[in-house]
Amino acid sequence: MQLTDEERAMLDGRYGEAVQQAMDLLVRYGEALGAERMVEVRNVAGANIFTPAQRALAKAQDHAAAFSELSLNSAKPLTIPTVRVPSCQLIGPMDREQWAVQGLSEADQQAILESESFSASLGIHLLNTCTPYQVGNVPVKGEHCAWMESSAVVYINSVLGARSNVEGRESTAAAMLTGRVPYWGYHLPENRFATHLIQVEVPVESMMDWGLLGYWVGEMVDDQVPVLDGITQVPNLVRLKHFGAAAASSGGVELYHIPGITAEARTVEEALGGRAPKAVLRYGPAERRAAYEHLNATARDRKVDLVMIGCPHANLEQVWEVCQLLEGRHVHPETELWIFTPRALRQVCDRNGYTDILTRAGARLLSDTCPAIGQFLPPGARVVALDSAKQAHYLPAIMGVQGWFGSTKDCVEAAISGTWQGGLE
Ligand code: F3S
Repeated sequence: MQLTDEERAMLDGRYGEAVQQAMDLLVRYGEALGAERMVEVRNVAGANIFTPAQRALAKAQDHAAAFSELSLNSAKPLTIPTVRVPSCQLIGPMDREQWAVQGLSEADQQAILESESFSASLGIHLLNTCTPYQVGNVPVKGEHCAWMESSAVVYINSVLGARSNVEGRESTAAAMLTGRVPYWGYHLPENRFATHLIQVEVPVESMMDWGLLGYWVGEMVDDQVPVLDGITQVPNLVRLKHFGAAAASSGGVELYHIPGITAEARTVEEALGGRAPKAVLRYGPAERRAAYEHLNATARDRKVDLVMIGCPHANLEQVWEVCQLLEGRHVHPETELWIFTPRALRQVCDRNGYTDILTRAGARLLSDTCPAIGQFLPPGARVVALDSAKQAHYLPAIMGVQGWFGSTKDCVEAAISGTWQGGLE
């Protein structure tokens, strides 16, 4: 690995032990991947504590020691300096105000708050969402980033044309302290061309349509780069957010192209870089139905215990849509309706009266976390309804529940009636 003088100085310990450990971690990571050098990053999105095991560790140690062990892979407690480049914290394990609903103890709540304060003391911005691009962290085309969270990486790579691989907790922590990541994967222009051509032969309009298409594409191309041909209606942020999240869940898609819409390709040929695709795949009515049936494969019982909206975190348009669907109606007494949004947007929801509308209707607006990351559900919940292909993919596997997948309207109707009546139009 070729290092600059500055990178060598970090590795030699001139900036302290934590930076030295971070650079050592990045060098070993880069060498394992065959990277020949580092690339400078000035936009890092990483994680703090997530799981019950990590919380236990954070409670048992001081936060610098927990950060050293969990994020820098150092058994020795290190003094952690202020971050070197702009960095933010992604989604975490807890809603700051409604933590009791999650079944967290006061001790857990304290440990998580203290851990957040520690992050803030390092200069890490507490965005606490899986969608930093919805709340002001919007990388520009060509900007090298080090982001964790697959749904966010596929969004910034594809829609915005930024350059990031899906990083991990350790590599993002190391990037925060050094401003570097190994130069490999989607940082290299030659890896950003499409490999698979998807011929879309059905209209793809609603958010649900985009989730179904993304889920099918991910299953078909795995971690390769698809280019979609045949999209006739320009999607918005919400639709592309759901498309990418679904494709990153069923496969490992980190970058896609939609000529004329996403950042890096005006035509299919440009997306392919003048090369022939490895495969040409057709998405028609049968493929759409197959994706729908796969997403609903765990569902049997129609009585719904929880409806969850906001994976990835909902933006204002989505919260407002739920408010409108609930207008003058009330959530079924045996069903919960939970909507998840970034912390910054919840404040707008409060000021706009959306939080009140939802609360009056018996729904709950939460932020900072989600059931898959925080690993929580209402007590006894067995059947959930979801408008997110990503959450329908993960939640049954993580929490052992049945999951119905459908439109936002189907989900809100399920919350009101307490039963699932959705279907594929
Ligand atoms: Fe975000 Fe949780 Fe979904 S992290 S993308 S709401 S699984």
